[in-house]
Amino acid sequence: MKAVPFSFRLDVPDFIPSAYDNHITRTLTAMKGQFLDQAAYDHMLAQVDSILYEVYEIRRPENSGEVLHGISIVHPGKIGDEYAMTKGHFHSVLETAEVYHCIKGHGYMVMESPNGDWAVEELRPGIILYVLPCWAHRSVNVSPDEDLITFFAFPGHAGHDYGTIEQRGFRKLVVERDGKPAIIDNPRWVQAETS
Ligand code: NI
Repeated sequence: MKAVPFSFRLDVPDFIPSAYDNHITRTLTAMKGQFLDQAAYDHMLAQVDSILYEVYEIRRPENSGEVLHGISIVHPGKIGDEYAMTKGHFHSVLETAEVYHCIKGHGYMVMESPNGDWAVEELRPGIILYVLPCWAHRSVNVSPDEDLITFFAFPGHAGHDYGTIEQRGFRKLVVERDGKPAIIDNPRWVQAETS
C-alpha cells in the first residue's frame, strides 16, 4: 500500500493524539523492583494495580529512515518518597538519540551513559530535550496533581532495551525531600561488569 504524508492533532486539555496506532499502559506490576521503597510498592499494589503511565504510539516501519514518535503521559503519584516514573531504557541500537518536547506538567528526565556520566534535566511545558546517543532515559513526574505529557521522536531502528535498567536501575533517583524534588544516589544501583 502506498504511504501518504499524515498528521495528527494534540488538543488541550488532555493532549491525547487525534490519531494513533497503539496505546500502551504500564501499571505498578510492570515496575516491580524499580522503586526504592519496596514496602510502599507492595502496599500500593495490594490495593490496586494502578496505571503509572501511558504511551500513544504512531507506528512506522522500524528502519533507520523512519522516525518513531508518539506521546508519553506519566500520571502524578509517589511510591514512598519516590515520584511516579517510566521504566526507562537504553535503545537496543545504543548509538541512537531521542528528542522530547514537554507539553504539560512538571518533571525531570533522568539520564545516564554506560561509561558513568549522568544528567537530570527539568521538564516544563515548552522545553525541548535532546537525549544523547547511548544514554538511557526515564521521565519522572514531580507534580502532585498534574500529568507529565511529552512528545518523543527517535530513529526507527533504535529498538528498546528495558532489561539493562531492570537489572541495574538508574544511578540517580528523584525523591521528595522537605516537600521538594531532590536527586539522590540510588543505593541499589548495580555497577555494570567491565570486561
Ligand atoms: Ni527512548
